[in-house]
Amino acid sequence: MSLNLAAHRAELDAVITREKPKGGALIPVLHQAQELYGYLPKELQDYVAEALGIPQSTVYGVVTFYSFFTTKPRGRHRIGLCLGTACYVRGNAKNLERLSRELGVSAGESTADLRYSLEVCRCIGMCSKAPAIMVGKSVHANVQPDKVAEILSLYE
Ligand code: FES
Repeated sequence: MSLNLAAHRAELDAVITREKPKGGALIPVLHQAQELYGYLPKELQDYVAEALGIPQSTVYGVVTFYSFFTTKPRGRHRIGLCLGTACYVRGNAKNLERLSRELGVSAGESTADLRYSLEVCRCIGMCSKAPAIMVGKSVHANVQPDKVAEILSLYE
């Protein structure tokens, strides 16, 4: 999939123009770029590097260091499966297996139709109702493997 850089270039350039004179523009610009395009492929990273006058390797280093940046397109519905201690102990690894099987992807991947992304995260503050998963901003608590398909069906 190749990026249509022109699609949001005007908005991105406006952010770069606003942020560049301030120090530490890179992270806010990358946040906005990801907001606009959904992910940060190499072509977009290079554009940001050039526009800010910093090395491509610096941009790449920041993008790969922070887990909230992604270089791959994400699905419309982001599934965050918690593997914090409480969720792990109460069986969320089995839910992960079931989700992977239902979706045909591993953690860190998105379905081919970009409907879902499957990600593993750490504690989401629902330990007392573990095991928990988030889909977008919704939390599903006390999840058991036989409920996974039902949960997925809630998200078009
Ligand atoms: S460990 Fe999963 S919600 Fe806290």
